Amino acid sequence: KQGKDLAVIGGDGIGPEVVAEGLKVLQAVAPDTFSLTEYDLGAERWKRTGEVLPDSVLDELSGADGILFGAVGAAPGDKSMPSGILERGLILKIRFAFDHYVNLRPSRLFPGIASPLSDAVVGGKEIDFVVVREGTEGLYVGNGGVVRADTPAEIATEVSVNTAYGVERVVRDAFARAARRRGKITLVHKHNVLVNAGRLWNRVFESVAAEYPDVTTDYLHVDAAMIFLATDPARFDVIVTDNLFGDIVTDLAGAVTGGIGLAASGNINPSGAYPSMFEPVHGSAPDIAGKGVADPTATILSVGLLLDHLGMAEQAARVEKAVLADISRRTPGESRSTSAIGDAIASAV
Ligand code: IPM
Ligand code: MN
Repeated sequence: KQGKDLAVIGGDGIGPEVVAEGLKVLQAVAPDTFSLTEYDLGAERWKRTGEVLPDSVLDELSGADGILFGAVGAAPGDKSMPSGILERGLILKIRFAFDHYVNLRPSRLFPGIASPLSDAVVGGKEIDFVVVREGTEGLYVGNGGVVRADTPAEIATEVSVNTAYGVERVVRDAFARAARRRGKITLVHKHNVLVNAGRLWNRVFESVAAEYPDVTTDYLHVDAAMIFLATDPARFDVIVTDNLFGDIVTDLAGAVTGGIGLAASGNINPSGAYPSMFEPVHGSAPDIAGKGVADPTATILSVGLLLDHLGMAEQAARVEKAVLADISRRTPGESRSTSAIGDAIASAV
């Protein structure tokens, strides 16, 4: 097949605004390559129709070569949209249905970007690591329940699911990435307390490590890992961890490398059996929606990850280079519009 089909889910809040800029850059770097199909999904659709992600839409999405996703979610004070409906029914449904077991979240402090960490911590050091977050298991599977709901005797359980199959495939992916990068990998878990899952993760990690004698391995409990993320983030190259730890680790990782306005992610099915989905780590930010002030950089970097995943490494590199050049020209306190940033990067690729 010549062209590629890209499904586009702008979503809510700033989602459609940042996705529009991502598409601008995509068209500039790879003209006449992608046919776009836009899908109206998110809080607004749910409010209008009661639908989150109809099976027919999921079916259509499965035929795409890739998915570009903005963000979904109503304003925090909006009581008409209960928490969890979109998270479980849309984002997680896609991640699970399309077996996105590698949730890839690069974290890099670009030259010219201020980190909230002191100069003593970041000065003269290169912070450049990726978190490989497991995306289909763990505490996200919805395994649990509630008994005696809404009573003083209520018991609520969420049981983490970790399979040897699921752990091994994501650990293998992470080792392969470490081997292509600086050759260092850190397993983040909490095996001193979560002994069952911890033992499985450790065993798999050790056995895959034996196949990679040139990759240096490290292990950190998740709490200690947070100390190092704040005091010595340059020590990390590849971090591999489970779904919930990865969720938390990557928000802090985004913060220490200049904010989640820059944090890109890929929900990847490496086998290619299903389309992978690329999205900024940030949410729908309803407070700034419609004002044209959202930073589209995370989405544009996610487009870079999409290109890379689709085998268009040269174009991916051009996107990253254009983003780097744009960032290096940013001045503290400047306020360029969403589209001005998109235009600048699109014309530079
Ligand atoms: C993320 C988000 C999601 C997650 C939510 C919205 C389901 O926080 O992509 O990090 O927890 O994975
Ligand atoms: Mn998150």
